[in-house]
Amino acid sequence: MSICSTALCRIFDVILIGYKMAHLLIVLLRILQRGRYCALLGLASILHLPAHAIEGMWLPHLLKALNEAEMQQMGLKIPAEAIYSVNSGSLKDAIVRFGGGCTGSIISPYGLLLTNHHCGYSFIQSHSTVENNRLKDGFWAQSMSEELPNPGLTATFIRRIVDVTDIVLSGVLPDMDERTKNAQIQKNIQLARDNIPLEPHEDVQVKAFFHGLQYLAIVTMTFRDVRLVAAPPESIGKFGGDTDNWVWPRHTGDFSLFRIYADSNNQPSDYSPDNRPYRAPVHLKINTKGIREGDFTMVFGFPGRTHSYLPSIAIQQIIETIDPARIEVRDSSLAVMQKYMRKSEAMRLKYASRHARIANYWKKWIGEREGLIRTKAVAKKQALEHSWTKKVQSNPALRQKYSYILPRFQALYDSIEAYHLARELYYEVFGWNSELMRFLHSLRRLVQLRDDSAAFRQYQKRLDTRVRAFWKNYDPYIDMEIFEAIFPVYLKHMPPELLSPPVRIVYYEEKWTPKEISEMFYYRTILTDSMAFMQLWDTDVYALVDTLQKELAYQLFEVNRDFFFDEVEPQYRELKAKIDEVQKDYMRSLMEVFPEKRFYPDANGTLRLSYGKVESYRSLDSVEYPVFTYIDGVISKYIPGDYEFDLPHRLIELYEQRDFGPYTDEQGRLPVCFIGSNHTTGGNSGSPALDGHGYLVGLNFDRVWEGTMSDYNYDIRLCRNIMVDIRYILFLIDKFGQCPRLIREMTLIDNP
Ligand code: ARG
Ligand code: GLU
Repeated sequence: MSICSTALCRIFDVILIGYKMAHLLIVLLRILQRGRYCALLGLASILHLPAHAIEGMWLPHLLKALNEAEMQQMGLKIPAEAIYSVNSGSLKDAIVRFGGGCTGSIISPYGLLLTNHHCGYSFIQSHSTVENNRLKDGFWAQSMSEELPNPGLTATFIRRIVDVTDIVLSGVLPDMDERTKNAQIQKNIQLARDNIPLEPHEDVQVKAFFHGLQYLAIVTMTFRDVRLVAAPPESIGKFGGDTDNWVWPRHTGDFSLFRIYADSNNQPSDYSPDNRPYRAPVHLKINTKGIREGDFTMVFGFPGRTHSYLPSIAIQQIIETIDPARIEVRDSSLAVMQKYMRKSEAMRLKYASRHARIANYWKKWIGEREGLIRTKAVAKKQALEHSWTKKVQSNPALRQKYSYILPRFQALYDSIEAYHLARELYYEVFGWNSELMRFLHSLRRLVQLRDDSAAFRQYQKRLDTRVRAFWKNYDPYIDMEIFEAIFPVYLKHMPPELLSPPVRIVYYEEKWTPKEISEMFYYRTILTDSMAFMQLWDTDVYALVDTLQKELAYQLFEVNRDFFFDEVEPQYRELKAKIDEVQKDYMRSLMEVFPEKRFYPDANGTLRLSYGKVESYRSLDSVEYPVFTYIDGVISKYIPGDYEFDLPHRLIELYEQRDFGPYTDEQGRLPVCFIGSNHTTGGNSGSPALDGHGYLVGLNFDRVWEGTMSDYNYDIRLCRNIMVDIRYILFLIDKFGQCPRLIREMTLIDNP
């Protein structure tokens, strides 16, 4: 099914000429490009500090020194050593990094692992077929022999954390240039790693904290046989779908259960039928009474990334430039998907997971931007920069070291803004939102390996699954419609100087419409013809590569891609590296200028503890939200047959019979979710929420929409994390899933 019309054919001829012209121009442009680009924004600079005691993602090995007193005052009933200790078992021994980007916790002596449904999603999906649809119907292994292996899935424990700052920074001198400095640091990191004694199966990583002021070696142990034990039906585990995503009040049972298996010595091993359930030295005990409003809570897990110490100009650019562009691209892309998803169930199924992926961060960015604006985050950082400046200026030593910082930030952020924008847009338009472009990025490798037959064959083999999966779901017409919808947004936001020459020429000089240009990318290519493509893929891949290379669409893709990777990405990285250097000094200066403040390092995927309270918030439109949701709310949201709000009959039956088991609160209600003021971010999904005794009370899975700005600007008034109440999880396992064997292996505390 090739997309061609006579109008298009004429365009084809025109672009061919334009394209050749453009090729010549690239060289010229490359010369001009250097030194020429100068960005638009201008402004103040400065910083931001933790305003509230409970903002922060704290390093577990420093809790005793930094946080214990405050935590105990807020309601912690156990010593900091019970949370993190190297010498004896502590709660940290029950926390794992689950797969690539989530957290899990061990909740029985037999390695039973609790995480989110959305973290286990792809594994549950991989065990699902039309006949045996575990994603749709749920899965409850009734014995260990029914638990299902998941190749590639890992669970990583943190064994100990060692400060290696002295080693890593030794011989790193202030007057060294960046390259020498980095080389020295890399050499030292290797040395630091070599110096850490490791037991069998242990690994060590060295990571930078506080923008490079501190380095920690983290010793880990990774288990590789992790099996699926139980998952509720998707209609419970993802109840509310994208509509409720990032939203409070929430009614989602976002959990799944896995189990770690180990060899006969209880050590990590690849999957083997002889492996046995991991005998966990520490597991979380469960408080079946749950918690109440006002109670102390902690969330223990692996937050991914935060940016808590950026200058105001960086926040301003996110609000004014970066978020609006990426939101608008996704607005357009989602609108096309929704149009088709509404048309038929088949379409809906086909696009559901793609839509969810694109919608997740789209929605987050909207909330983030709104939150930053409404809480006047820029002014707040400016005020901080103001008092920082006053202190720096009044002290000659500080002045000498640090007064360069704010003007330098200003200049660097001015320069990087266009590159940052162009980069975000490139990844949105040629990465996330166009399937064809994503696919072309993979195929390009193959084209490049054309003359190295061994490597070619090897990569071809690697690509095979991806190629087949691509065609299974690919609809070139819808994909093209999406591209046609997002490309005008791209052109609208892109700094003209950073458009690739062919695109810039046809748009700005030859006055093509965005639609005409986007058609060129999709025009007359074998990639819109699955039969032709697969026939060559299966019989003669070299011929396929040759065909592709001759196509205008491919050439245009390639010129555009090369331009990005030669002219945009390297400049961005260079500027970013400079910003990082200044950021490091800025971080140091904050600590010196405000010695009375307590600082936590930005999230970097390492184990952290956040703490706060079970507490409500008042939304931007001044609605005071409840702290808990209950099963009654699940039922009142129920829309039979709806793809987001349907429910399994069995849940409705249990509700009608009020058969909640012992999992209700004092008023006989079954709690479903609750919110708290624990500072969390992406990666904290699946993190256990613990009470003051360290007992498990909930499972973190999301944040409230207006609070998603906490990655840049934590505000105690708005930032809340969302957790599934452990009582709902127990009810679902016991009553709904009828899996009491799992409840029996847990340690339930009903009189904390
Ligand atoms: N917002 C949560 C997170 O960032 C949950 C995402 C999964 N759920 C969904 N409805 N898409 O991961
Ligand atoms: N759902 C997110 C995750 O997968 C956690 C929510 C957040 O970003 O706080 O990590």
